[in-house]
Amino acid sequence: MAIADISHRKKFLARGNVYLPHIVVIEKIIEETPDTQTFHFNFKDKKLGEEFTFDSGQFGEYSVFGIGEAPFCISSSPTRRDHLEFAVKRVGRVTNALHRLGVGAELGFRGPYGNSFPLDYLKGKNLVFVAGGIGLAPLRSLIWNVSDNRDKYQKIDIIYGARSPADLCFSYDLESWSQDRIINMVTTVDEGDKDWAGREGFVPQVLEQVAPSAKNAVAVVCGPPIMIRFTFPVLDKLGFTPEQILTTLEKRMKCGVGKCGRCNIGDIYVCRDGPVFSYAQIKNFISSEY
Ligand code: FES
Repeated sequence: MAIADISHRKKFLARGNVYLPHIVVIEKIIEETPDTQTFHFNFKDKKLGEEFTFDSGQFGEYSVFGIGEAPFCISSSPTRRDHLEFAVKRVGRVTNALHRLGVGAELGFRGPYGNSFPLDYLKGKNLVFVAGGIGLAPLRSLIWNVSDNRDKYQKIDIIYGARSPADLCFSYDLESWSQDRIINMVTTVDEGDKDWAGREGFVPQVLEQVAPSAKNAVAVVCGPPIMIRFTFPVLDKLGFTPEQILTTLEKRMKCGVGKCGRCNIGDIYVCRDGPVFSYAQIKNFISSEY
């Protein structure tokens, strides 16, 4: 299966130095959870914005001037061109600086980088999305992409979980998808609170209970390493082959363009060879690294 498809990004990057960021402006900020925000943004140079293209699964490098730069997937769908989105969990210097920004602030952006989800491979298939926490961010780009082109795909299952109800990201998407008749939306939390009337249980356990068929299906998985590690055996038990399982890794990336050597796992570079991989491509080293 050919996953990499980077011809169009090369065209965009050919505009100049790959390390030179373009200026983008924050247009909206959504508080997803106490430590996670989604940023809506557009290019300051409108012409550049019109020329910019990306595919679901690709990422960008975002810089807060004077502080530093960090990679995040583009979490919006290429089918919705009004603005771009990325989601940030507060974990360190750059992410804290991003969270201090307000609407109207300017950021540096370079990209898109990496490969993307193989839409041709997914066509005509049943799709099973399995995500935990902020791991839904790259998957939501693909989910909106396929649901905006729903005649090309079959049934869609989404199994999404977080530690607690307050940690569920993209609640507005979860609401939309739960009302969509072609989508089977299953939301779970590790532990509910007094107001939670929904499902409780870890994502891999809930996946096993929902038991989507592996027939003519592809599973797309993203979440915390522990969730990923326990999800692969469940998918295997359900009959998904390693070629029928896709994931996206954003491990330790820095430069984003295959130069710094920070993102290698085994003999692959996540930024250059991924971030989207089939389980068949990574299963030999995933247990030691994830
Ligand atoms: S992030 Fe620098 S080589 Fe991959």
